[in-house]
Amino acid sequence: MLVLGIETSCDESGVALYDDALGQALPRDGLIAHALHSQVRMHEEYGGVVPELASRDHIRRLPGLIGHVLKSAGTTVADLGAIAYTQGPGLAGALLVGAGTATALAYGLGIPAIAVHHLEGHLLSPLLSCSPPKFPFVALLVSGGHTQLMLVEGVGRYTLIGESVDDAAGEAFDKTAKLLGLGYPGGPALSRLAATGRPNRFKLPRPMLDSGTLDFSFSGLKTAVLSLIRAGIDETQVRADIAHAVEDAITDVLVAKSRRAMTSTGLARLVVAGGVSANRTLRSRLDASASLDGFDVFYPELELCTDNGAMIAYAGACRAASGDAQSLGFEIKPRWNLADLATPSRQSGTPS
Ligand code: KG4
Ligand code: ZN
Repeated sequence: MLVLGIETSCDESGVALYDDALGQALPRDGLIAHALHSQVRMHEEYGGVVPELASRDHIRRLPGLIGHVLKSAGTTVADLGAIAYTQGPGLAGALLVGAGTATALAYGLGIPAIAVHHLEGHLLSPLLSCSPPKFPFVALLVSGGHTQLMLVEGVGRYTLIGESVDDAAGEAFDKTAKLLGLGYPGGPALSRLAATGRPNRFKLPRPMLDSGTLDFSFSGLKTAVLSLIRAGIDETQVRADIAHAVEDAITDVLVAKSRRAMTSTGLARLVVAGGVSANRTLRSRLDASASLDGFDVFYPELELCTDNGAMIAYAGACRAASGDAQSLGFEIKPRWNLADLATPSRQSGTPS
């Protein structure tokens, strides 16, 4: 079945085509076309995402992107078997554009529309890489809005085992980057600056590192960085040193909690997904821990770390294969917990 995937939860319009017949042996072979329009330049001058502008831009971009992927794959809408779209979580107006487009098109074609959870898209995106993980695995989901550890036993079988009690890791990158005058989106810019920073010039807090749980806390980083800035950061080198300390603190905690999750679940595979999984320092530290502790670690291809249509098309195809599709009507879920897809409760027995 050929599935069209549409992602519009925030500031990227992503569209892709996934053919599950071609992806039987290796899922990435099923991804026959994908296209993305990033709104970063449009939002840049406001220092962050302006929801109304985001929705309007998705309306402008989707028809062209859909036409482009169909043409580049040599297909037409008549070949589609289903249309998957991001139902949530995300910005309400932006989600409505994708949901409205997908369900209207599906209704017109008489094919199912499949509602996809944005984080499920991220979580399954490493399966589209050259060496995909097998189930079960532990997933570290690190995006702009979420930081979660999940036990993943199969498609739709997710148990939350830890999460941030306040800011997400991506949010911590973005907010501290803003304080350092790096603009939006902050994560990649902060990481680039951190590469020129001197190690151990500043020591930032690592809240909940020794909490004995798999939960995270990142909101204290802003305050700590703010007090460093108030002490004066005229020098470029000092800003780089602070950026280095921020990246160090965030990645330290993410690695420590991931290792703890691997020990407590006894699993041998860790999957990292979401925008922050593109971070090179995080990748090299996790790779080092993995070889030390004896587990394997998997990431999405770099171009599929941040929001994209491919992960939605693929998650939709997985859902369709298990008979989970809707045919009429639609709703959006701007706030939606991934764990609610399957097991609503937190796993008992998080490590002590
Ligand atoms: O998954 P994503 O594209 O969108 C959400 O679902 O939120 O993640 C975006 C987040 C932003 O906070 C961005 O700053 C962060 O991912 N990010 C990075 C890097 N690339 C993206 N953070 C650190 N280092 C990076 N290289
Ligand atoms: Zn995302």
